[in-house]
Amino acid sequence: MEEKQLKELLNGLTLKEKIFQLVQLSGEFFNVGGMAVGPQEKLGISQEVVDNAGSILNVVGAEKVRTIQENYLIKSSHKIPLLFMADIVYGYRTIYPIPLGLGCTWNPALIKKSYEKIAEEACVAGAHVTFAPMVDLVRDARWGRCLESTGEDTYLNSLYAKAMVEGFQGDFSKEKSIASCVKHFAGYGAAEAGRDYNTVDMSERRFRQDHLPPYKAAVEAGCEMVMTSFNIIDGIPATANSWLMKDILRKEWGFDGIVITDYAAIQELIAHGVAADDREAAKLSIEATVDIDMKTPCYSNQLEPLIRDGQIDEELIDDAVWRVLKLKNKLGLFEDPFRGASKELENKILCCEEIRSQAREVASKATVLLKNNNKILPISSNKKVALIGPYADSKDLIGLWAVHGKTEDVVTLKTGLEEKLDENHFVYTRGCDTLNDYSFLGEFGNIPRSGMKNQMTEEEAKVELERALAIAKESDVVILALGEHMMQSGEGGSRTDITLPKNQLELLEKIKESNKPIVLVLFNGRPLVLTDVEPKVDAILEGWFSGTEGGRALADILLGEVNPSGKLTMSFPYAVGQIPVYYNEFSTGRPVKTSNHSQRFMSKFLDCPNEPLYPFGYGLSYSTYEYSNLKLDKDVFNTDQVLTVSVDVCNTGEMAGEETVQLYLRDVVGSVVRPVKELKDFKKVMLMPGETKTITFTIDKEKLKFVTKDMTYDVEPGKFQLFVGKNSNDVLESEFIYSN
Ligand code: NOJ
Repeated sequence: MEEKQLKELLNGLTLKEKIFQLVQLSGEFFNVGGMAVGPQEKLGISQEVVDNAGSILNVVGAEKVRTIQENYLIKSSHKIPLLFMADIVYGYRTIYPIPLGLGCTWNPALIKKSYEKIAEEACVAGAHVTFAPMVDLVRDARWGRCLESTGEDTYLNSLYAKAMVEGFQGDFSKEKSIASCVKHFAGYGAAEAGRDYNTVDMSERRFRQDHLPPYKAAVEAGCEMVMTSFNIIDGIPATANSWLMKDILRKEWGFDGIVITDYAAIQELIAHGVAADDREAAKLSIEATVDIDMKTPCYSNQLEPLIRDGQIDEELIDDAVWRVLKLKNKLGLFEDPFRGASKELENKILCCEEIRSQAREVASKATVLLKNNNKILPISSNKKVALIGPYADSKDLIGLWAVHGKTEDVVTLKTGLEEKLDENHFVYTRGCDTLNDYSFLGEFGNIPRSGMKNQMTEEEAKVELERALAIAKESDVVILALGEHMMQSGEGGSRTDITLPKNQLELLEKIKESNKPIVLVLFNGRPLVLTDVEPKVDAILEGWFSGTEGGRALADILLGEVNPSGKLTMSFPYAVGQIPVYYNEFSTGRPVKTSNHSQRFMSKFLDCPNEPLYPFGYGLSYSTYEYSNLKLDKDVFNTDQVLTVSVDVCNTGEMAGEETVQLYLRDVVGSVVRPVKELKDFKKVMLMPGETKTITFTIDKEKLKFVTKDMTYDVEPGKFQLFVGKNSNDVLESEFIYSN
């Protein structure tokens, strides 16, 4: 539709009709017959609102979407189509690894391609907008939603934010793309103590320097929507935060797309204690230019009286509705309200071979080898393998936030290994349940999903444990598939104890009695504390929740068909008491390594090292890589120049492999304290055994900028340390001077 026509459409709407466009309801309000069902009365949402709400949440599936749209349009006087939005975070039907795993690929180009495929599946299933990417910076492993983020680094998260948005949106073709809604704006990942929805309170400098850039990268990549976060920023909940939404997002960044609240966040302003009632909550939010109210009656019931009473200007509504209509128009919904939704295409592409094989490739690249003593991995084909553990044959590899994925599509590790090993070389038993105590599941304990709650009786558990030991004894190597319960991470999945479940640790102790080499394969949605487990096993493979093809991807690595190359993007704490622990911390006045103070009076713990167990950027390979010859083409460079850095990397192992060469900088003296190291660039390089390649990087002044003392984003002249290496800890070092 031409813009002029769209304006006419807007001008022809009554106030009530306009407000309907700003209301989003969830699926339970609709059934395919077009009648409202569900708790609308209780929520104070009238039938009229249900019949006219402008968008719908988490209803997908071509047939369902088409029917709801058709019924809706029959009743709609202006024929403005419904917008279908859904949580499609790391896969629609074919599930990819969780974003924390995707981060470990250090491969935004591959992630972009993967998100193109995710968009294609979502599009044919009728989704118009996805609530993704989630780009919250995460430095607290207690927070369950680490799962949805690509990690602790601002620069890397920004690259992924861009890649994901571009992958989803592509060229906006109606067969293959969907609009993207970046979330949760802003700072949600910094909830105090990692407790979900908790207070966020930090300096504006840190907020701008570390937390905001990934959202900005998404906006710059053309992201159509932004979702507010649940948390407060400097005392004001994001959903009512005019500074955040108007000053930063709209004015500073020029965003003119839709802002939607997170689930019921407008009404939560009352619980936060910044609004007395729905009416005040609606006023604060619309004044902050929040356009769509997800799932509360605040906008639908309060905006009209607010205008009538002269409390807010109707122009605010017009602006918001205009943004909604513009997106509907951009998606081509006025011409084709069903857009890509097609049963036929669903049958053809959902979970098709091409997409599955991409998911398999990504899953193997997301897997991180944390330990490999005596080259126990890869397992050679003449060895007899015992596969033991609650995740060995579990279909929960898709993780909690794979809302539209189906466990029946999942290839388990057992299946993956059986495809490669004959029965003389492979034996399996479950060993134990995922947990002993499922009470934390609460209401979710009744959901019939695989693995949710399959508890053995005490007797069965005893027999299983004995059987596990027996098969371990008969084998050459044991693969132990352990991890968090799928419901222990994700939204509402905050924990203070992030070690492996106790009964799984008992299983490990039992298997140790066999004296056989143990390969631990982990399934989890956050960094775990593995300090006590690490010495007890010979190898550790961090598999995350690795998605539909996870079992095959892991089998590829375990048996050496793929050389692992993943590198952590979030530090694995040594102890939970260290948290937050992350590589790019500030230097204190009493740093452990270079302080003049005596031992006690330094910035350290008495009972634990400062360093995490596994640092940011860490990950082993079946090959080994040696770094040498770090060279800078000049000692001093200025505004108009670039500095060229080179380093030689040699594959000193026996297998071809891909290494991620990482470049970090430290601004030695700044007008404000600067991090001890910051990732500024990285390159992936494929090396044959014995091969050496020279890797080059260029550094310009953009890479040296930061939020200075006077809050400008700028570079300051002076000395910089430069580090290049295989992880944030293991680096070669040099230095240079930047002069204006
Ligand atoms: C709440 C979550 O915080 C958000 O990430 C999600 O998109 C919405 N619910 C909608 O399901």
